[in-house]
Amino acid sequence: MDVSPELRKRLVTARRVCVLTGAGISAESGVPTFRGEEGLWRKFRPEELATVDAFLRNPSLVWEWYQFRRGLIAKVKPNPGHDALARWERHVDELTLVTQNVDGLHRRAGSRRLIELHGDIHRNFCLDCGTDAAPELLAAEAVAPPHCACGGRIRPGVVWFGESLPQGAFEAAVEAAGACELFLCVGTSGAVYPAAALPSIARRAGAYVVEVNPTRTEVSGQMHATLLGKAGEILPELVDIAVSAAA
Ligand code: OAD
Repeated sequence: MDVSPELRKRLVTARRVCVLTGAGISAESGVPTFRGEEGLWRKFRPEELATVDAFLRNPSLVWEWYQFRRGLIAKVKPNPGHDALARWERHVDELTLVTQNVDGLHRRAGSRRLIELHGDIHRNFCLDCGTDAAPELLAAEAVAPPHCACGGRIRPGVVWFGESLPQGAFEAAVEAAGACELFLCVGTSGAVYPAAALPSIARRAGAYVVEVNPTRTEVSGQMHATLLGKAGEILPELVDIAVSAAA
């Protein structure tokens, strides 16, 4: 991979880093992305599966879809892209990882300063009273969403279309993007807001902004540099450069 002298310098000197990730970073683990040739939204319609209305209309269908995705995620593991970001966090003063992914792979790789903008597929809570569901409640029923003690339906803890992000999550992400010296945008099509606004927020605040993706995206025009390739191959090389300087 060709790392420009400017990017090399930024990797070596940056003390505050912010990274935005999307489905592409988990693609090499075997988790399908949403858009593109093999994307989930080519085969399934978001409005039938990822909205509150869809859940109220057909709770079992929506539940089954999330059970299917949970099953898939349970079988995969973090890849070298996730691992590289966790390693970088241990070597730099501050690395905030903002992810749109709900798969929990960053946490499993060891990233700790993590903002999950779109929630967590492993969490479930009551649609009516908001209480988190106990794991026993979930184990009992697989094909339909269980009921909470209050009588409400238990729903997956992910952000659906038309819903607000978890409280404080976007504000924390904006703060990290605005305060960093180096901002990386990894494996996201940049099609979904407000996450897609973060690269321009970082750039306006003075950060050097770099994209890692096999293809150009809707946010490529906002980048200082786009590195075309897979996250699992490029991130370990970038982190090697950053970490070797810190050692
Ligand atoms: P997308 O599916 O929109 O985009 C995935 C991106 O990953 C594309 O730009 C691919 O080119 C890129 N990609 C594929 N393989 C890669 C690899 N090995 N390394 C690096 N990049 C790779 O996924 P997101 O941008 O994450 O929202 O989608 C944003 C949101 O839209 C999701 O969080 C989800 C979806 O609807 C909700 O569910 C609320």
